[in-house]
Amino acid sequence: MELSRPELFDFHGVSMAHYFTDSWDQVQNFKARSDDIMIATYPKAGTTWVSQILDLLYFGKSDPGRQTSVPIYDRVPFLELCIPNVHSGIESVEQMTLVPRIIKTHYPVQFVPKSFWEQNCKIIYVARNAKDNVVSYFHFDRMNMVEPEPGDWPSYLQRFQEGKLVFGSWYDHVKGWWEKKQTYANIHYMFYEDLIEDTAQEIEKICSFLNISPTQEEKDHVIKEVAFDTMKKNKMANYSTDVVMDFKISPFMRKGKVSDWKNHFTVAQNEQFDEVYQKKMANTTLRFRTEI
Ligand code: A3P
Repeated sequence: MELSRPELFDFHGVSMAHYFTDSWDQVQNFKARSDDIMIATYPKAGTTWVSQILDLLYFGKSDPGRQTSVPIYDRVPFLELCIPNVHSGIESVEQMTLVPRIIKTHYPVQFVPKSFWEQNCKIIYVARNAKDNVVSYFHFDRMNMVEPEPGDWPSYLQRFQEGKLVFGSWYDHVKGWWEKKQTYANIHYMFYEDLIEDTAQEIEKICSFLNISPTQEEKDHVIKEVAFDTMKKNKMANYSTDVVMDFKISPFMRKGKVSDWKNHFTVAQNEQFDEVYQKKMANTTLRFRTEI
């Protein structure tokens, strides 16, 4: 299938590509239900990992074959994705029969359809430190044909800092959702680094936020199934069935580590990045770990 790489353009003040805005009106008019659960992230922060965790927590027992027969993008549809004849997030969500519907978005907080707020839906926001996030996004953009051409690493790193990647500025994204959490109680804000450090503890926190009480055996099963190597091998979790990605360039489940940025940033890039970071993050209490 021939897909042309899109151009980046300004959309209501955020850099976007048309595959994520073409269904804007439908998305904005989407009628969320009060039991819908949203997973929101800046791209490459651990969306798929948390999607797999939630799908297992809710349906791992009642429908145990699901995780090995239905691709993650159908189990947890990407609300705003719109690729003709390939993916329609809106259509996928509307075809969902299981409850709760678990729905993924990469939108900055101000783009979320108002019905999610009106219905007081539970939302899990996953954030990842900027340095590992940009490295992961760079490799993803190299292999994903519905993303704009990434160019070389130095220019990509520069554009990340200018907010000129799809879904806009990482800094605005993580801060915007953090601020929303101060006034909207139904957001659980979590970090990729914590999930790496102590998966079991983060799953406990998720269960407590969602008011669910799986047995220890069920939780142990989830922990086993969401280990990096297990998900990397699972065709229904590793995106190898997705036609828009070229695994010859880079795998979707790439490294799954904290601090891989050290293999990409030069000393000079790191210093310059830290300087910009201090300025952009000066007005927030949000703190990230770039190593654990
Ligand atoms: P890397 O590119 O650093 O390896 P998203 O799902 O938001 O697109 O994020 C993808 C990133 O999360 C990739 O990071 C991927 O390897 C990582 N990831 C996915 N599942 C994981 C898991 N089970 N454990 C650790 N990292 C995981």
